[in-house]
Amino acid sequence: MLFGSRLAEGAELRGLEPWQAAEFLAHIDEARANIEPYVSFVDVVVDEQGAREFLQRYAERQAADSGRLYGIWLEGKLVGGLLFRTFEVRTGCCEIGAWLSAEAEGRGLITRAVQQLIDWAIEVRGMNRIEWRCFTTNERSAAVAKRLGMTLEGTLRQDFPYRGEVHDSQVWAMIRDDWEHRPWK
Ligand SMILES: CC(C)(COP(=O)(O)OP(=O)(O)OC[C@H]1O[C@@H](n2cnc3c(N)ncnc32)[C@H](O)[C@@H]1OP(=O)(O)O)[C@@H](O)C(=O)NCCC(=O)NCCS
Repeated sequence: MLFGSRLAEGAELRGLEPWQAAEFLAHIDEARANIEPYVSFVDVVVDEQGAREFLQRYAERQAADSGRLYGIWLEGKLVGGLLFRTFEVRTGCCEIGAWLSAEAEGRGLITRAVQQLIDWAIEVRGMNRIEWRCFTTNERSAAVAKRLGMTLEGTLRQDFPYRGEVHDSQVWAMIRDDWEHRPWK
C-alpha cells in the first residue's frame, strides 16, 4: 500500500492531490449523477483544470492545517472521497464531508473511513468537536452520522441555496466525550 490505510478487503483510503486531477475528474464524471443533488463542489470539477484547482485548494488548506482531502480506492479505482471541509485547531472544531460513486455504496466504506478520520482528529490532533452536515432530504448521509453514534443537534432552516432551492441542513456532531464511548471502540 502507498501511504494509505486499509478500509476493507481491496479498499484503501489515501491522500488525493493535485497531480491526480485527471483521475479525480474521471471519477467525478462517473459519480456525478449520484452526488450532485447533495454536493456542490461537482460544479467546479467539470474539466481537468477545475479538478486541479479544487485539489490545489485543499492541498493549500492542508499546508495551512485548515482542511484536508482524501480518496477511497476500491480494487485500484478511485470511487469516492472524504474531506475535512473545515479544520480549526484554535477552537478544536472541524467538519467532515464525504461522497461515493453509486457502485461503491452499501459496503460501509464511508462509515469506516469517517471512523479513521475522527480517531485521527481526536487522538492525534487533539480536536474536540467533529461535525457532519447534510440536507434534511439526504437520508443516506444522515444514516452515516447516526451509524457512527453522532448526535443530531438541530436543523438549520433555509441554510443552503443550491440549484434553485433553499435547503434545510441537519447538523450532527460528535464531541470528545461522546467519542470515549464510540461504537467502533
Ligand atoms: C452519503 C454517502 C457517502 C453514504 O454512502 P453509504 O454507502 O450509504 O455509506 P457507507 O459506505 O458507510 O455504507 C453504509 C452501508 O453499508 C452497509 N455496511 C456493510 N458493511 C458495513 C460495515 N462494516 N460497517 C458499516 N456499514 C456497513 C450498511 O449497512 C449500509 O447499508 P445500506 O446501504 O443498506 O444502508 C453516499 O450515499 C453518497 O455519496 N451520497 C451522495 C453524496 C452525498 O450525499 N454526500 C454527503 C453529503 S452531506
